Amino acid sequence: MPVTPLAHAPKTPAPASPYTPVGDEIEVFELAYKRNLPVLLKGPTGCGKTRFVEHMAARLGRPLYTVSCHDDLSAADLVGRHLINASGTYWMDGPLAQAVRHGGICYLDEVVEARKDTTVVLHALTDDRRILPIDRTGEVLSAPAEFMLVVSYNPGYQHLLKGLKPSTRQRFVSLSFDFHGAGKEAEIVAAESGVDRETAKRLVTLARALRNTAQHDLDEAPGTRLIVNAGKLMAGGCAPDLACRVAVAECLSDDPDIVAALMKVVHAVFGA
Ligand SMILES: Nc1ncnc2c1ncn2[C@@H]1O[C@H](COP(=O)(O)OP(=O)(O)OP(=O)(O)O)[C@@H](O)[C@H]1O
Ligand SMILES: [Mg+2]
Repeated sequence: MPVTPLAHAPKTPAPASPYTPVGDEIEVFELAYKRNLPVLLKGPTGCGKTRFVEHMAARLGRPLYTVSCHDDLSAADLVGRHLINASGTYWMDGPLAQAVRHGGICYLDEVVEARKDTTVVLHALTDDRRILPIDRTGEVLSAPAEFMLVVSYNPGYQHLLKGLKPSTRQRFVSLSFDFHGAGKEAEIVAAESGVDRETAKRLVTLARALRNTAQHDLDEAPGTRLIVNAGKLMAGGCAPDLACRVAVAECLSDDPDIVAALMKVVHAVFGA
């Protein structure tokens, strides 16, 4: 069967996404990149993991290949597969193989969702061999120095049976993300949404109050993303009450009693 490798033009680096650093994560990431170490990011939803990777890819001038992992994700989805067209069979690299060939950053989001047999393909890439064997073509790709693997997950979603095998997670330099301190988070909300500093501070006060008081009733604490969205609506002329209802309270629960309780906190912060 003739096999024609499909040539992929390297993707141009993603445009720089503004990122407000919280600690020494930029320095650690750059060092890991220079020393050929893979990085694992963990933290709650909406706290800036994806934004950070996009920012770092642009900063390092590397193309970014992002994969949202799910429980049907197969090794072939990452590595590639044979496809058929009118002229025969050809090989199509998956995003992981593309990133290795082009010296890009491969970002596997919610990596714990992927099946264990899928994450095993990462092993030879994440130790000092830095190779990607492609069984179906017989190729063994050697990762160039510019290639980097980044994975992320949200420990809050982790089911007991899920999680990364120790042999996988011990290969990564791990950066733990959390919600930012109040001052930094207000800075981010103002910059991202366009609201004034005072309104941004109130949105952060709201998020922090909800994180403290409502954690037992909610599946997940409100992330920075929610209050950025509320801020965007407010900057567009929406009243705080409505913005916080549709962009915060209704996004956190489907239970009308819980939504009503969350709205009480909104009224306490913004006035009834
Ligand atoms: N440090 C930061 N600098 C700039 N923006 C930020 C920062 N942290 C959070 N944000 C804002 O929060 C939004 C959500 O961040 P992001 O999408 O990176 O979250 P995430 O951690 O990847 O969440 P998820 O686990 O749901 O994928 C961003 O679009 C941005 O507006
Ligand atoms: Mg994300």
